[in-house]
Amino acid sequence: MEFTLKVAHPASIKTACVVIPVTEGRCLTPAAQALEQASEGQLTQILKRGDLTAEAGKTLLLPGLKGVTASRVLLVEVGSDPLKDRTYRTLVCSMEQALASTAVKEVLCTLTELEVPGRDSAWVLEQTVLTLREQHYRIQKQTQTPESPSHWKKTTLLAPSSLSLKKAQGFVEQAQAVANGTDLTRDLGNLPPNLCTPTHLAETAQAMGKDWGLKVRVLDRADMEKLGMGALLAVTAGSHRPPQFIIMEYAGGKAKAKPVVLVGKGITFDTGGISLKPAPEMDEMKFDMCGAASVLGTMRALAEMKLPLNVVALIPTCENMPGGGATRPGDVVKSLSGQTIEILNTDAEGRLILCDALTYAERFEPAVVVDVATLTGACVIALGHEAAGLMANDEVLRNELQAAGDYSGDRAWPLPLWEEYQEGLKSNFADMANVAGRPAGTLTAASFLAYYTKRYRWAHLDIAGVAWRSGKEKGATGRPVRLFCRFLQQRCQG
Ligand code: BES
Ligand code: MN
Ligand code: ZN
Repeated sequence: MEFTLKVAHPASIKTACVVIPVTEGRCLTPAAQALEQASEGQLTQILKRGDLTAEAGKTLLLPGLKGVTASRVLLVEVGSDPLKDRTYRTLVCSMEQALASTAVKEVLCTLTELEVPGRDSAWVLEQTVLTLREQHYRIQKQTQTPESPSHWKKTTLLAPSSLSLKKAQGFVEQAQAVANGTDLTRDLGNLPPNLCTPTHLAETAQAMGKDWGLKVRVLDRADMEKLGMGALLAVTAGSHRPPQFIIMEYAGGKAKAKPVVLVGKGITFDTGGISLKPAPEMDEMKFDMCGAASVLGTMRALAEMKLPLNVVALIPTCENMPGGGATRPGDVVKSLSGQTIEILNTDAEGRLILCDALTYAERFEPAVVVDVATLTGACVIALGHEAAGLMANDEVLRNELQAAGDYSGDRAWPLPLWEEYQEGLKSNFADMANVAGRPAGTLTAASFLAYYTKRYRWAHLDIAGVAWRSGKEKGATGRPVRLFCRFLQQRCQG
């Protein structure tokens, strides 16, 4: 979808539809008042009939108004409660739902005139673009006849008076870049696991490198063996598909500026291995590469935004399959760090591919390292589908990530990473085991990673609950690309 900003009079602009916010028979914003005036009070009369319920997000599509040039007017009810972040996003979603299946090709959206307490007009612009793009996204299905795309291609936003047109355009462009990255993440997450293979992820990274001028290198199995990535190799052992280790470098900052390193879990299918998962909903384990996909999406957004900083992406990717060559519970392997691991449960594979990638991260002398992974079912139980689990060995970094999540609406919530949680990982046969008991599964998983991240500032995002939706709306969400983008944008300020 294309976005433009305009300083326009909403009553006299030629458009297929003008969208205005109203509340209980009242015209709230300057745009709504302009329409009320131009239509000589028709709007209030219509509202008085009571066809628009006083619930935030309800809509009423009017086939034009006398005195108003637009061929349609969409009323969006704001509700009487003070506007929250979440309510504002609901309004944008409702607008999309009301218009997506109509013949409308372009829209003038004046919701951007609303004041959201605690947020400025840059936030409102960004959230409008991001929410509309999120709602407008369609899954690329593998069907014989492709679904006809929505007619709606262009959205004009009323330029806010508090910002110069140029500044406002900058915010819209950045939000578009974030949305493009999010779409890439969702596309990869939704792709079936026979197509979204480790090789496919590597090819996607290579293609991105060409398109966006990123340095891309991919290590193959032989490279991993040479380096001694025994933990990663143990996970891929049961699969016929070759593993890949993707390294992408974005150099937007000063040559000497230490990079932010992002590490994404790229299990393209997690059967559990010999510790096989139960059959119900196993198809959802194709989403076990959403950490990797979110890192790719973030790199794409970053390159399009041209942010002035250096970022390295590391993506260990393989399948976790049972088979004659598969790793057994009880096997002991040596990680890249030299520490040995007794693999007690082959279904705790994410931490195994991550630990080698986290050790590899050291060679970039990182400013900070953030890994992102659909790591534990326990995180879904703890935080549900609202927030990613956030753990870190550095309080400042943790706060930065939490704030980025809060601002972008792509939230993460802090969980403790105390040394006590490492106790359960003790092994009689190796430096550590890859699992502890049932309690605090999210924290013991992160504590395992903590053994490999002692040399730098590090944070871990467990996105098991937020990376995808189950049920009727099944599919990838593109989280936490928005969190990451805000985090990186903020690092350019400071
Ligand atoms: N990819 C899963 C985590 C997962 C489970 C994400 C369910 C979303 C929904 C991970 O590899 C895994 O299997 N974790 C195990 C760890 C356990 C064996 C210690 C889990 O959470 O059950
Ligand atoms: Mn697993
Ligand atoms: Zn997994």
